[in-house]
Amino acid sequence: MGHRKAAPLVLKGLQRLEYRGYDSAGMALYQDQVVSLYKTQGKVADLAALANFKDANQSIGMGHTRWATHGVPSDANAHPHSSNSGELTLIHNGIIENYEALKKLLVGKGYVFHSDTDTEVLVNLIEEVQKSHQYQLGKAVQVALSQVVGAYAIVVFDTKKTDELVVAKLGSPLAIGMGDQEYFIASDASPFIEYTNKAVYLEDHQLAIIKRDRAPKILSIATDTFTDYYIQELELSLDAIEKGGYKHFMLKEIYEQPRAIKDTYRGRLLAEDGLIKMAGLEEHLDKFLNAKRIIIVACGTSWHAGLVAEYILEDLVRIPVEVEYASEFKYRNPIISNQDVVIAISQSGETADTLAAIKLAKEKGAFVFGVCNVVGSTISRVSHAGAYTHAGPEIGVASTKAFTSQITVLSLIALRIAKAKESISVAQYKEILNELELIPQKVEIALLANQRILEIAHTYKGNHNCLYLGRGVNFPVALEGALKLKEISYIHAEGYPAAEMKHGPIALIDENMPVIVVAINKGHYEKTVSNIQEIKSRKGKIIAIVTEGDTTVQELADHVIEVPETLECLSPLLTTIPLQLLSYHIAVLLNKNVDQPRNLAKSVTVE
Ligand code: AGP
Repeated sequence: MGHRKAAPLVLKGLQRLEYRGYDSAGMALYQDQVVSLYKTQGKVADLAALANFKDANQSIGMGHTRWATHGVPSDANAHPHSSNSGELTLIHNGIIENYEALKKLLVGKGYVFHSDTDTEVLVNLIEEVQKSHQYQLGKAVQVALSQVVGAYAIVVFDTKKTDELVVAKLGSPLAIGMGDQEYFIASDASPFIEYTNKAVYLEDHQLAIIKRDRAPKILSIATDTFTDYYIQELELSLDAIEKGGYKHFMLKEIYEQPRAIKDTYRGRLLAEDGLIKMAGLEEHLDKFLNAKRIIIVACGTSWHAGLVAEYILEDLVRIPVEVEYASEFKYRNPIISNQDVVIAISQSGETADTLAAIKLAKEKGAFVFGVCNVVGSTISRVSHAGAYTHAGPEIGVASTKAFTSQITVLSLIALRIAKAKESISVAQYKEILNELELIPQKVEIALLANQRILEIAHTYKGNHNCLYLGRGVNFPVALEGALKLKEISYIHAEGYPAAEMKHGPIALIDENMPVIVVAINKGHYEKTVSNIQEIKSRKGKIIAIVTEGDTTVQELADHVIEVPETLECLSPLLTTIPLQLLSYHIAVLLNKNVDQPRNLAKSVTVE
């Protein structure tokens, strides 16, 4: 809402947000009391092709890219949704869990529905409340939302009030870009960062009334009182969210890892002084030192980073660590006490399953420490304390630089606690500290294998299955490698602890099964070499990640990819690089949409 043409702005904003969900898209433009609605299954590009928006002069508009929850991807189910009278239009990110009961109630009052979505139920519920109580839009939204169970970020427009938008949030992210007499509303700042770097992040249970000619008013839905709010100055740059000459965001983000790891330990890792400085950790060090147990909750790639942290924390800090799938943790009725520290890891900071796990942990008295990449995200605000990974915006759906930045932060946390606990020698502490400082340049070296990895990708792009093996702290790297291949090339892949193979998966091995083995010369190297021999004797095709100069595995494997030597506890920061590149090249060779793979979303804001 402002003084510019809304259509090009909304379309560009949707393209920036498309990584969040992309099975259908829609836009509504408003001029006086006329609503122009455009919706389509497919990409934002398909929406942009629906009409000649160059001549669209409306200065108020809203748009949405969808990740289907209720109702298949279709034109009818795409957002925005209109109320029966056509006066109200609404876009929604989230899930209305009690929508069927509300729909039944509305059908009983004569409402008809044109889609299968929970969102269309919400816009008609607001209309019903508005009509039956003669409420202003803000009040009607507030009252309607008090009847809703679930998660939402919504924007509502009423043709009866053409200079106003009402927005509200619970669970799903919502940012308001504060421009000069213009306002932008979005799931994150990337759609409006080129127009303003001033943003207000709505809190849960808040509603804002936005008018063109004055500052937004923010209301607490529960207490029905207006609240003050904090305008954040964002450091995000436009450049950071562009491809920068790379073919895909994923490849750009793989190559950004040396900088991302350096930025993540910048000002925190003072190797010369043998110091680690992390404000969020320092203030609550006692919580970690007195913790009976550390529980890590996360999903997907972040869960794999948690597994790496389990090995590092238990080895260096000697506190029991449990790593939990956030989605299972909430419903497993876990035993949690106020002597537990819960580390919640999330790139987006918006993953609903992880948020739910945090909520449960807090209810049971645990101290929650968040590790997030998105500044101002919900998890960073609901955690008791935390540390940001400074990987910069991660736009490719397949997480890469966030994974290595998460491992960097978790390694710093483990080292700081180990120093305070004196659970490792000063010599070992200094050795790891100095080695961590060298990791960015070693990642640069690992990236030099890119061309070689492309050749290997050509060889295996036609395979339908793949096994990934690793031992110790590189077992989670094997899991992560398999996840990367699955999510962007759609090839079935599984990661296993190398020794676990003989308890079943070895039955899968024949000349058609590529097996990727992390076989660096640390930890149980010899045992990994014998695992490779077991595979070889069953004609499996071996792609081995080895330490520079390795000659033993060289003899056994069909292909070797070298990474620089480093300490075992830090080796996942290097061994994961070739696995990222291999999955990337295979997906590109298979013409897959690498940055927006099918059925996935970058931030899963629904349980
Ligand atoms: C990883 O490549 C995937 N995008 C996905 O598994 C992701 O790691 C998971 O959804 C967790 O996301 P978060 O880190 O933003 O919480």
